[in-house]
Amino acid sequence: MSTAIILGSCRSNGNTARLVRQYQQAATSNVSVYDLNTFSIGEFDYAYQNQSDDFNSLFKQLLTYQKLVFATPVYWYSPSARMKIFLDRISDLLSQDKEMGRALRGKSVALLATGGDVEVKHCFEEIFIHTFRYLGCPYEGMLYIPFDGDMPKIPMDISVNRFVLN
Ligand SMILES: Cc1cc2nc3c(=O)[nH]c(=O)nc-3n(C[C@H](O)[C@H](O)[C@H](O)COP(=O)(O)O)c2cc1C
Repeated sequence: MSTAIILGSCRSNGNTARLVRQYQQAATSNVSVYDLNTFSIGEFDYAYQNQSDDFNSLFKQLLTYQKLVFATPVYWYSPSARMKIFLDRISDLLSQDKEMGRALRGKSVALLATGGDVEVKHCFEEIFIHTFRYLGCPYEGMLYIPFDGDMPKIPMDISVNRFVLN
């Protein structure tokens, strides 16, 4: 199954990026990474003033994959602001580009996350669970790795996790 990872950390070589690389190495099929730091994506607004930024072309590309994996650090019990801006912009597709919105339905999605706490609070994952249920995308689960600074607190062994790889 072809997979795209959307990386939404403030740093392109931080903990979440390391987890993404680990996932890429463990995957048996082709996995492409799209680092939101390398795209210019503005906030959602009701007048759709950011329509000509990178969001639409990026999303069109993402729709060529069967599975979308969202990778974000936990910042204040939430996804990063970069990731949240990306998620908010999916609203554009529901009113402005309904064809792309329809194409999103049925794509399977999953979550890669890193944080400082040993256990991540439920509210963090629930944002993704509810959003993708609403969008008609089967949610496959989350792989969460806690870090102490830049050191993982547990082995980043993807194979032993409940997370579905392919
Ligand atoms: C602004 C900020 C807020 C954070 N809030 C949380 C938090 O609420 N819960 C948590 O477990 N870790 C929190 N952390 C720790 C990060 O989630 C953790 O260090 C993560 O691995 C950083 O990933 P990155 O290198 O991709 O940014 C926070 C870190 C920052 C910078």
